[in-house]
Amino acid sequence: MKHSTPDGKRPTMQPFLINHRSGLTRDLIEALFPMFEKASAGAIAVDQASRITWINASYAALLGIKDPDSVIGQPIQPVIPHTRMPEVVATGNPLLLDIMEHETQQLVVTRLPFFDDQGEVIGAVAFVLYDDLQPLTPLVSKYRRLHQDLAAARKALARHARGTRYSLGDFVGASPAALEVKRQARLAAGRDMPVLLLGETGTGKEVLAQAIHSISGRADRPFVGVNVAAVPENLLEAEFFGVAPGAYTGADRRTRDGKFQLANGGTLFLDEVGDMPLTLQAKLLRALQEGEIEPLGSNKVQQVDVRVIAATSRNLEAMMAEGSFRSDLYYRLNVLEIPIPPLRDRLQDLGILCEAILEAVCEGLDLRGEITDAAVAALSTYDWPGNIRELRNVLERALTMGEDLGILDADAIFKVLPRSGSRSVSSLAPRQVRLLSQTMAAAEAQAIEDALITCRGNRTRAAKMLGISRSVFYEKLAKMSG
Ligand SMILES: Nc1ncnc2c1ncn2[C@@H]1O[C@H](COP(=O)(O)OP(=O)(O)OP(=O)(O)O)[C@@H](O)[C@H]1O
Ligand SMILES: [Mg+2]
Repeated sequence: MKHSTPDGKRPTMQPFLINHRSGLTRDLIEALFPMFEKASAGAIAVDQASRITWINASYAALLGIKDPDSVIGQPIQPVIPHTRMPEVVATGNPLLLDIMEHETQQLVVTRLPFFDDQGEVIGAVAFVLYDDLQPLTPLVSKYRRLHQDLAAARKALARHARGTRYSLGDFVGASPAALEVKRQARLAAGRDMPVLLLGETGTGKEVLAQAIHSISGRADRPFVGVNVAAVPENLLEAEFFGVAPGAYTGADRRTRDGKFQLANGGTLFLDEVGDMPLTLQAKLLRALQEGEIEPLGSNKVQQVDVRVIAATSRNLEAMMAEGSFRSDLYYRLNVLEIPIPPLRDRLQDLGILCEAILEAVCEGLDLRGEITDAAVAALSTYDWPGNIRELRNVLERALTMGEDLGILDADAIFKVLPRSGSRSVSSLAPRQVRLLSQTMAAAEAQAIEDALITCRGNRTRAAKMLGISRSVFYEKLAKMSG
């Protein structure tokens, strides 16, 4: 193996191609090598001790080496710090494609070992295929896109599997009040203790409950929600604790799991906990205190391990005072209390909330979903008793009424903002005509919102006022929340 020519001149090509197994291989290699060397942005060879035996002019120039001869015979590592040639020499395995950092450059390189007649590694050669990643940009960006899609799909799948669709990023807001809520949510996620979410209707209690679960240690376990107000009173106990076989005469012979069993190991979200009848409150307290439950019609207790997140829009302290909520249960649930501010107390979040909501609403539609500053200012004249749910409805209505491909200006907002003093619908303005189904859906949403606001978020009363059952009410509300 010649390291350099005796006369001290730059070595010529193929200084290492001395031993060949056959003439054919030699011919092939000798034909290929100059092509490779010419097409590449640089080439270098080392011996079995990883000392440089040869370097071509273009690689020397790329590395900023003025005199290529000065590096011949030197170990490669100090010259090219991130080289992996020693690895190729040691293992005899080629590294066909690699990206190597060199100072500020990223080089795409290929490294091949070469062998003597006995099959021993006697050195290696490396080619720099590209001295910048430009030619690979389309490939790299395609790869990145695929990677992002994959990550998004995995995330969605994981959320679906554990029953949540919101994470903390879905609680939109940058106001001090919103940031404080997120801080507390993170705190709650890190501790395995009961959490009580307090907030008016539509402030994001459900969003937050799911978000806490999804960043907690129980994230890969189930998240099970139960809306206490939506379940008929006589079915609540079975819904919570399950039913033993044959509990009712003529009943199902099989065991039916309750929400506690389904949530075992994970999180149980008790929504509208203020609507829980007193008898069930006592049973819930026991389940929380003892970590055990008794299915309906069974005399055996079952151990359960659930983290409870409860939420209500009602004033539990007032309810305790009037005796409709047990204080021992209240203190059990209220280990960590997170008050969620109403939208009117964080109007500076209106802008980013609108952006986030419009983006979500317009996804997949041929609408731009933009809002002008004047329109945001118009929104801030309103009191938002229905909070973010109501904001979403207002924006959706403005979009369906609007003509301009989904760009909302102040006028579009004033047209749909409910009963506010600032409302300015001119009776002379041309009437908007929409599909009857849209008009009816909007009227229904408005009626539900009005009822909720009048009843301060008490769904049972709201449903009664509207003359519909609670389950129908919930169905409609869920549709409105999207
Ligand atoms: N901070 C927020 N950022 C973005 N969207 C939000 C936020 N809070 C709530 N929303 C949206 O508002 C709607 C209502 O939210 P959610 O169901 O969590 O409210 P809630 O407090 O549980 O209301 P309710 O007491 O009426 O059940 C949902 O569409 C949700 O996506
Ligand atoms: Mg809710």
